[in-house]
Amino acid sequence: MDISELVTTAQALVAPGKGILAIDESTGTIAKRFATINVESTEQARCDYRSTLLTTPNLGDHISGAILFDETLRQSTPDGRPLVEVMQEQGIIPGIKVDKGAKDLAGHPGEKVTEGLDGLRERLQEYAELGARFAKWRAVITIGEDIPSAACIEANTHALARYASLCQESGLVPIVEPEVLMDGNHDLDDCFDVTEATLRSLFAQLYEQDVILEGVVLKASMVISGSTCEERASVDEVAQATLTCLLNAVPAAVAGIVFLSGGQGDQEATEHLDAMNRLGEFAWPLSFSYGRALQQAALKAWGENRGNQEPAQQALAHRAKMNGLAAIGEYDPAAES
Ligand code: 13P
Repeated sequence: MDISELVTTAQALVAPGKGILAIDESTGTIAKRFATINVESTEQARCDYRSTLLTTPNLGDHISGAILFDETLRQSTPDGRPLVEVMQEQGIIPGIKVDKGAKDLAGHPGEKVTEGLDGLRERLQEYAELGARFAKWRAVITIGEDIPSAACIEANTHALARYASLCQESGLVPIVEPEVLMDGNHDLDDCFDVTEATLRSLFAQLYEQDVILEGVVLKASMVISGSTCEERASVDEVAQATLTCLLNAVPAAVAGIVFLSGGQGDQEATEHLDAMNRLGEFAWPLSFSYGRALQQAALKAWGENRGNQEPAQQALAHRAKMNGLAAIGEYDPAAES
């Protein structure tokens, strides 16, 4: 393992004004997204859509890396250029989702554990040969009555640490993603407590498995009111609570922190990131790794203009630019129109 290369890649993923495009939806999830625009999810349609996104002119200005699903790493544009090559030309680092999804945790109703460790070493080696330089593994923590349990948090963070160690062995930067779901009527304080407990457990497990934190990027969920909570915390409250939680639980050695959007509106996700970066400078850069909050407008435009890539590419370029500004605390909502 070349540590300096891992560190260089991790730092490049969170370079100033840049963040990550998450287009690693599993076949099941992308079918749900396509259903919202009445498009059937065939291999060709998925390839057309993701080629459209990745060939967006100058996407690399604000996008440092993109997380792909297994299928996409092997696909080419309609005119025959491998997508990995397209990304390299754009200065976008190829990444790969390697977990096998969150499954029901035995003995713990309502809770999930992420699978995918068996055979992971061999898969990572193949992904590295195909051009991937970083990977992602998502764990899911649900807030509800009497959950999450300590068992659920530990099972998930242990798996994240085993995954991270295997990634570094193969020369890939692990993005570790313990997502605390927004689903539910919990308030900001509940989300804070669960997020802090999860992060503390995660870093204890990473330490136990000898993972090099300088070569890790944390993909975090924000500390935010549950989606059906009646009293919603303001942008400033979310920014302050999220930052306090991270400062309490995330070692300074971590290369960077990127956020998932988790069901937030496009502009809301941008505003939250911007508000955090306006609070000061911290040990780690704070940026984005959005899926829905980067793609929503582009997906709609693509569905409405099949055969004309431009509207979708413009929509993606716009959100990438807005979030790039938020990553340095220089976003201005007036620039939205
Ligand atoms: P969202 O931003 O849509 O939550 O997706 C990010 C992601 O990659 C979740 O694993």
